[in-house]
Formats: sequence, structure tokens, C-alpha cells
Amino acid sequence: MDNRKILVTSALPYANGPIHFGHIAGAYLPADIFVRYHRMRGADIIYVGGTDDHGIPITIGAEARGITPQEHVAENHALIKSIFDRMNISFDNFSQTSRQDPHYPMTCEFYKRLDELGHIEKRAEAQYYCEKCDLFLADRYISGVCPHCGKPGARGDECGACGRTLDAAELKEPVCKICGATPVMRDTFNWVLRLDHFQEWLTGWLESKPEWRAHVLREAESYVKDGDGLKPRPITRHLKWGIPLPVDDPDAQGKVIYVWFDAPIGYISSTIELFRNRGQEERWKEFWKPENPDFVRLVHFIGKDNIFFHAVMFPIMCHGQENGWKLVDTVPANAFLNLEGKQFSKSEGWYIDPLDFLDRHPADSARFYLCSVMPETRDTEFQWDDFGARHNELANVYGNIVHRVISFTGKNFGAIPKYEGEAADRADIELIEAAEASAAACATAIDSFQFRRALEAMMDIPRMAHKYIDTQAPWTALKENNTRAANIMHTCIRLVRGLAVTSFPFLPDTALKIWDMLGETEPLDKVPFHDAFATLPKTGFTLAQPQILFQRLTDKDMAAEKEKLQGFAQTKEKEAQKLEPLKPERGIKDFMKWDLRVGTILTAEAMPKSDKMVKLTVDIGVEQRTVMAGIGKSYKAADLPGRRVILVANLEPKTLMGVESRGMVLCATHGDKPLMLQPEGDPPNGARVS
Ligand code: MF3
Ligand code: ZN
Repeated sequence: MDNRKILVTSALPYANGPIHFGHIAGAYLPADIFVRYHRMRGADIIYVGGTDDHGIPITIGAEARGITPQEHVAENHALIKSIFDRMNISFDNFSQTSRQDPHYPMTCEFYKRLDELGHIEKRAEAQYYCEKCDLFLADRYISGVCPHCGKPGARGDECGACGRTLDAAELKEPVCKICGATPVMRDTFNWVLRLDHFQEWLTGWLESKPEWRAHVLREAESYVKDGDGLKPRPITRHLKWGIPLPVDDPDAQGKVIYVWFDAPIGYISSTIELFRNRGQEERWKEFWKPENPDFVRLVHFIGKDNIFFHAVMFPIMCHGQENGWKLVDTVPANAFLNLEGKQFSKSEGWYIDPLDFLDRHPADSARFYLCSVMPETRDTEFQWDDFGARHNELANVYGNIVHRVISFTGKNFGAIPKYEGEAADRADIELIEAAEASAAACATAIDSFQFRRALEAMMDIPRMAHKYIDTQAPWTALKENNTRAANIMHTCIRLVRGLAVTSFPFLPDTALKIWDMLGETEPLDKVPFHDAFATLPKTGFTLAQPQILFQRLTDKDMAAEKEKLQGFAQTKEKEAQKLEPLKPERGIKDFMKWDLRVGTILTAEAMPKSDKMVKLTVDIGVEQRTVMAGIGKSYKAADLPGRRVILVANLEPKTLMGVESRGMVLCATHGDKPLMLQPEGDPPNGARVS
């Protein structure tokens, strides 16, 4: 057996709100299955995590709630931890990057060493600064009037109306998106990490990882291959919340270390904390600074949006220390899990609250389903109907075999019977061998991070048990040959015992219940995974009437869940649709100044640089017009010809994206989507609207 130590991490979730099933399926459940399995193999393994407490969004989140960042992250840390606890994600230590010791000094040590070795550089630059927020604003935190199309509400990096890419400095009437104040340009300094110094080293290092998941390697390599390769990257921010920059320079006043620099060091701090709590001050070094890097296997479980930081930046930070830090061996990043066709979004109410879910469904049912749809190679979906079907499969195949075997044995023998006779029956040997083969296939799959395949291999065990019972028919044997019936049930119990062992990494609560029912007392997480079927059950142990492991779900149950999701989303939508107050009254004369006409769209062409603007030709009876309409987010250009519209026909011409637009198509807005007005019936083109 592989006797390296194993160090496992899962991405540190931001302490800015709860986590959802997408996170769990992406970075926590696979890690937990992997870790439980290796614990059962007797590996010297640790699993560390914590919350990522720094960064600007956390300060904004705290501000919005009128509390301090410390209070905000403390609450979210507790919330996130309670979700992990209830999902049985078995971290050995779950820390916080805002617990200063040992995290702050360790981060400073990393920073200073890179600085000493010439990899950090001070740079002057001008940046928008909000005096009210006391914050240098990243482009996405600024909005203003677009210098090209003149529409308000353009973002510092892009105008939503005309679709052009912008530089925040070009915006007219810039405002801070956080507080609405006008920001000012201010000279400042940032310290950058010269990632470019490591271009050659990283290229070679990535070449030594051909076994990585293809999509992870492809993305990691793109950073060294695309354009000029690795670029220097700022690793400081002007902010009060975070780790103060350990630089003796007046310009470093008010600067903290960028959150993505300190966060991965959180893995190290969490390990130090773990061993401190165990009274083994120095043991963390065996994992992070091993005498020989091959003595340790380091695995980072993350989502695909974190690949750059775990396959490029953090390895460079560790390698760049030049003093024996362990580098990651593999990064089994997952794609995303969506919810019923859309991304999980708490703010839009498109969301399942994990704690609420767990009040109605067992954690193992969630683990089973999430593992079965784990986004290992591409984005996948949580679908309620699918969840119901998979849950019922778990009940019918797995839950049912356990119940069938234990209740039949209990009823007819009272206790677990011995296996009688010199030689075992051929069918019995074959069953045990087949189960062993499935457990071995399951192990191989876990070892190569193929968790969906591993789950399927595990589920083959109850499937073969059903077949075995049906063909061996112990109810018939019971009438003719009591010994044969006892041997069949002994074999079944042995199989169920082995199933508990094999399924423990996936379904820990359920496996423990079975364990109890069979009178087993050895801690299940220490039972050798590979001997799942070798050990005989505790013969003579009196079996009680078994409890039902999984209650079946009905279509009605799933319909209620879907309704709940829709209702939740609609409430959020209503909340979000703040209706504008009415404008002052005007006379009919004012209205009559506008010439509104019915028209028909003849042609429509999406504008290449914009996802909003569509160029239309509209027939309004008297003539044909070219009109630019910002409806690209609601309609496909190809679907537009033939649609009836109401056109403001006497609007002054205006040039938009180089096209002279003559008129405006009337729309109602729904959320952020414009929907065109259409006449009732079939009035001719050019008909007046009044
Ligand atoms: N907080 C980050 C996110 O949720 C992940 C941080 S992972 C670590 O995307 F490297 F910083 F630990
Ligand atoms: Zn502001």
C-alpha cells in the first residue's frame, strides 16, 4: 500500500453568506469521500479547511448589515460550519483566516521572503477612490454615463447599453456603486508579484502533471501559453480589513495583502492550528515541509473558478520561497452544479437552503444524489424530479436489501446464524467474490477521483444481493433444509456488513445505522476498507426489527419542492422590481406632440459588439425606417422579422454604434428585460396610436 502521508484541502468558502449544494458537490463532498476512504485504509491523512474571511465583498456585506467585518464573518463562519456538520463533511480542522495567529505571521513570512528574493515590486498608478467609502474602487464598483452612447448606468469596465468595453477613467459622471458618491482620481501604490519570473519553471512543472484532469491542465497551461504568458499581478489593496502589508514604507499605510494571497496560506494555518490543538506543535511540518516531497501527497479540491489560484499562483508562492514547501500534487477541480437550468443564486431566490433541505431529507440522500450528478467533467444540474428518482432508487435497492435481509433473518433465526458445513456453497463464494470485486472497483475509482463511477460500483453490491436472494429463495429452503436457509442468510448478513463498510465514505449516517443493527462496535472509520467482505458477521447477535433507512418520496413531494423554489424566486423578483414613482401630470397637448405608429419589422440584425443592440428595418406604411433597439437580451434577431411594433415615429435621428436610428420601439420592462408592445388585432402599418 501507498504509505505516503496525505494532505487534503477544500477551497475556503467566503464568509459572506451560506454555501449551497453547488459548492458541496464541487469541492467538499468529493474531498470527504476521498478522506473517509483513506482513513479506512489506515493512511496518515489530514483534511483541513476554514472560511476565507478577507476581501472587499466581505466589508461591503458587513457594511450593508451595519455590523463589523469581524461580526459578519463570525456569523457566517458558524452558519457555514453548521451546514458542513449536518452534511457530515469531516474536516479535521475548520479554521478562519481572520484568526490572527498563526495565519497573519505565516502570510507575512511568505510575503517577505518573496520580496527578499526580488519577486515583489512597488508600482505607482492612478485609480478611482471614493472618499465616502474610503476605498479605491475596482472597475466593477463604478458606474457612470457611457462616453460612446450617452446612456447612464454604464459599468466601469463595460457599457450595458451599447456593449462597448470601457476604461473606468473614460466614464462621464462616475459614481461609486456602493454609496453613490462621486469618486476622485488618486495616485496610489500597489505591490505586484512578478509571476512572470516563474514562466519557465511553471511551464516545466505543468508538463510533469499529465495525469491531471484534462480541463484543469488545459486551463492552467493557458496562463503560460496565451499571449505573453504570466503577467505581474497586484497583491495589495487599500483597505482596513485584512492583513496589514508588512512593508516599512509610508506608502504602505492603509494597505493590506490581497485576499487571494492570504487565503491559500489558510490551508497551512489550519494545519498548524490542528496540530496545536492536539499538542503536537511541530507536526504540521511533516505535511508542509517534508524532508522529501514524495513523502506527502497534497490534493486541493476546488471548483473550476479557482483553478488559476491553485494550479498557478499558490504553487508559485510556495516554490518561490525556495525552502522546501510542499507543492500540490493534483487539483481535481469540478465544473459547476446548476439548479433546474439556472445558476444557484441566493439573491434571486433560485436556491435551496441546505439547512431547510436537511429538515426534510436525510443528509445521506443529499450526498448520494450530489455524488451521482457530481460535475466531474462538465456542468451538471440539480433537478428535483431527478433527486426524487435517485432517492427512491437508494431506498429500493440499498435500503430495501438491508431491511429484507435483517428482518427475514431476525424473524426466522432470531440471531445472526453461523455458516454450517465443511465447504461453502459455490453460489455463496461467488457472491462474496463479486462483492469484493465491486468494492475493489469502487476503491480504484475513488483513488482516481472518479466519484460517480465509485458510487455506481458500490451500488452494484445491493443489486447483486437482491438477485442472490431471489435465486437462492431462502423461504423455500427453510421448509426443506434449515441449514441451507441459515447459510444463505449468514451470507446475506455478511454481504450487508460489507456493504456498510464499502458505503461508509458515501453514506456515513446510514452505514453506522447498519453497523449498529448488526451488533458491530469497532469504530467504522477504522475498519479496513479492503477487508469489507473478509470479516465474518457477529454470529449469535440478536437482531431487532430493523428501522426503515429511507422513506420513499412521491411525485407530490417533488411537486411541492418545485413549487417552493418557484414561489421563493417570485417573491424575490417582486422585491427586486421596485416600481418607479409616477411622474407629474401633463395635458393631452403634450401627448399629442408624439407621433406613434404601428409598424412591422422587416429585417433584424444583431450588432456584433453588443448583446443588447439590434438593428431593425421597420415598415410604418408611409416609409421604411432603420431603427436601433436595445432588445437583444429579450429576443433573438432571427425571430423578429414579421413582428408588429409600436414606433415613436417623430423622434430626432440619433447615431448609435455608427448607425443612424430613426425612431424608438416601445417596450415594457420586466426585471431588466424589455418586452415589445404589440397592437391587438391587425391594424395596417402606419395606423396611428393615441
Ligand atoms: N473563497 C474562494 C472562493 O470561494 C476560495 C478560496 S480557496 C483558497 O472562490 F485558496 F483561498 F483557500
Ligand atoms: Zn462610495
